[in-house]
Amino acid sequence: MDKRPIGVFDSGLGGLSVIKELNRVLPDENIIYFGDTGRVPYGTRSAETIVKYARQDEKFLLSHDVKLIIAACGTVSSVAGFTANELPVPFIEVVTPAAKAAVKATKTNRIGVLGTAATVNSNSYKNAMLNFNPELTVVQNACPLFVQLVENGWIDRDDEVTVATAKRYLKPLCEAGVDTVILGCTHFPAIKEIIGDVMGDSVTLINSGEQAALAAAEYLTTNYLLGEGGRRRYFVSDRVQSFASTASILLGSDIEDDVEMINIDSFGG
Ligand code: DGL
Repeated sequence: MDKRPIGVFDSGLGGLSVIKELNRVLPDENIIYFGDTGRVPYGTRSAETIVKYARQDEKFLLSHDVKLIIAACGTVSSVAGFTANELPVPFIEVVTPAAKAAVKATKTNRIGVLGTAATVNSNSYKNAMLNFNPELTVVQNACPLFVQLVENGWIDRDDEVTVATAKRYLKPLCEAGVDTVILGCTHFPAIKEIIGDVMGDSVTLINSGEQAALAAAEYLTTNYLLGEGGRRRYFVSDRVQSFASTASILLGSDIEDDVEMINIDSFGG
C-alpha cells in the first residue's frame, strides 16, 4: 500500500480524460492534477519549449510527493517522454497504451491518428504501432483547433463550429477508409461524440486518456502500490473559474472548491 497521490498533468483540460477513467478504475487513489492553463496550447510549440514545460510540470507534481506521474498529454508523451529518465518515480505516458489498443482493435489494418501538430510531426503513435505490426497503413492529421474548442467549452454534440471543424479535419481519414482512430490528444475525447458522428458507427475510437489510466491502474496493482483516501486536488496556472466550469461538465461533478492556482514558473525549467 502506498498512500502518496498519483500526479497527472496536461496543458489544460485534456488530462481530465485520464482522471475520468481513474475515477472509475481507481476511485480510492489520491490524485494531484495540474493543468497548465496559462500556457495552453503545447502542441503548436517547439520541442525545446514543450520539454521545458514538461520538466516544470513534473517538478511541481514531485513537490506534492507523488508516487507515479502520468503525462496525460499526447504532445508531452510524444516530444518530452524522455524526461521520464530524470524522474525519481515511475512515469506513464499516453502513446504506447493507445497504440497497443488500436493495433488490437483494427480489423482492416487501416488506422487514423488525430493529434496536435507536435504529436503528428513526431510520428510517435505511427512508429509505436508499426513496431507492433509493420503491415499497418496509418493516416495522421493534426487538429490544433480542437484543443481551443475544448478549452473554450464548445463541446456540445451539436455545436455548429466544432462539428464543421471536425468534418474538415476528419476528411482525410474518412477518405482513407480507416476502421480505427486514435484520439491521440487527450483533449479530443471531450468531443468524441462529434468525432464519432463524423467518422460513422463502424469506426472504433481509441481514447488515449482512458488507455493511459488503465495502464496506470495495471502498474499500481501489479507493483502493490495501490493507495487509499480518494482525494482529488486540481491546480492550474491561470484563472480557476474558466477551468473549473468546463472541468465540472467533463467530469460530471462540481470540482470548483478543489481547484487552486499556482505559479508554475517558480518550478524551475
Ligand atoms: N492535451 C494535449 C495533448 O494530448 C495538449 C494539447 C495542446 O496543449 O496543444 O496533446
